[in-house]
Amino acid sequence: MEVTVYLSLLFLVLYLAGLAIHRFRFLRDRRRMQDESRNGGRVIAKVDELSPGSVKKFWIICQEYRVDAFLVNERGSFHAYVNRCRHMPTPLDFIRDQFMSEDGKHLMCYTHGALYELATGLCVAGPCKGEALYRLPVRVDGGDVLVGCPQGDLSYLKE
Ligand code: FES
Repeated sequence: MEVTVYLSLLFLVLYLAGLAIHRFRFLRDRRRMQDESRNGGRVIAKVDELSPGSVKKFWIICQEYRVDAFLVNERGSFHAYVNRCRHMPTPLDFIRDQFMSEDGKHLMCYTHGALYELATGLCVAGPCKGEALYRLPVRVDGGDVLVGCPQGDLSYLKE
C-alpha cells in the first residue's frame, strides 16, 4: 500500500515538473518570437538566403500553439506550411531535413511518400491526395521573409 502511494506521488511530481518545463519553454520561445517579429510576422530568412527549391525549418507561436513549420522557395516565391503531413500527424521530414522529392518538383512526406505542390501545398499523390498542407501567411519586407499566423480558429494547430 505504501509503495503505491509513494509511486503515485512520484508520478504526480514528475507530471507537474513536465508541465512546468513545457510552460517555461513556451514562455521563453514566445519572448524570443516577439524579439524577432515586426509588422505581425517573425523574420525567418533573408530573401537571398534560400535558393529556389530549398527549404528552411522554423517554429512559430500562434495563439497558444507552438508550431513546427517550414519555408520553401518555389522559383522565387516563398511559401510557408505547418510541418505536418495530412495523412497522419507526422512531420514531412521523417528523414531529418529532407523535404523534396528526388526530382525536386514536389514536397515529399518521407513516411509514406505523399507528394505536395510547392506553391499550393496540395497533396497530388499518395494517401492524402486532395488534402492540403496548412499554410502560414508569408510576406517579404525589406529583404527579409516574414511568416505570420493564420486568422481565426487555430485549434487544428494543436500537436
Ligand atoms: S504520414 Fe505522410 S504520407 Fe503517410
